[in-house]
Amino acid sequence: MARDVIVALDFPGRSEALGFLDRFKADKPFVKIGMELFYREGQDMVREIAMRGHRIFLDLKLHDIPNTVAGAIRSLGQLDVDMINLHAGGGVQMMRGASEALSALGSRKPLLIAVTVLTSLDEAALRRELLVSQPLKQTVLRYAQNAKEAGLDGVVCSPLEAKGVHEAFGQDFITVTPGIRFADAHKGDQQRVTTPREARALGTDYIVVGRPITRAQDPVEVYRRCLSDFVNP
Ligand code: C5P
Repeated sequence: MARDVIVALDFPGRSEALGFLDRFKADKPFVKIGMELFYREGQDMVREIAMRGHRIFLDLKLHDIPNTVAGAIRSLGQLDVDMINLHAGGGVQMMRGASEALSALGSRKPLLIAVTVLTSLDEAALRRELLVSQPLKQTVLRYAQNAKEAGLDGVVCSPLEAKGVHEAFGQDFITVTPGIRFADAHKGDQQRVTTPREARALGTDYIVVGRPITRAQDPVEVYRRCLSDFVNP
């Protein structure tokens, strides 16, 4: 299992993102480029960060009709990234189309991961706002089952659900888990959170950590704390 810490580069632009990465002298963190940075700086930003030797999770959470998502995946597949994602809520056909579109890349293809239920949502919001009356864990498991059936490599979920996903779909089915906070920190907009140590105990493969690292006085120190709690305790 490739257990690792992925740092979310949620910055408004190139100079902030590169300024942040410049602080890491001895480490080359696996990074996540999301909508904020990608929509401003585009594919050049992805190439520049890849050239610096970072592994990249391109977190654009695609969600549209199958034909449109397959086209988007073909465009993104040209970039040298390690992981991309889409919303499982788009359905099995959408996910299968995306997976097939990536197959053309052969061994160069990135891992394709489905977002199950956003870690900012809790069961009450699902029931009240989205009329999802099933227990949250069951919803996550069903979305994961759909993703597996569609040929995806794994899912984004909360660490609280990672164990159930592995038990149901195997240790090789990857779990990528945001919603990571240290015990003494604020949750912010995240609802389903754990510490890096708890995430490890729950069997998560990758933790995604944004604000606890990017807003720290010493991001390198907090990144290393994540590594030592999650990867090498
Ligand atoms: O700052 P924080 O650690 O909450 O950042 C979490 C990152 O993970 C954000 O970039 C967010 O977009 C992403 N993410 C998430 N929940 C998901 C999928 C992705 O929080 N289900």
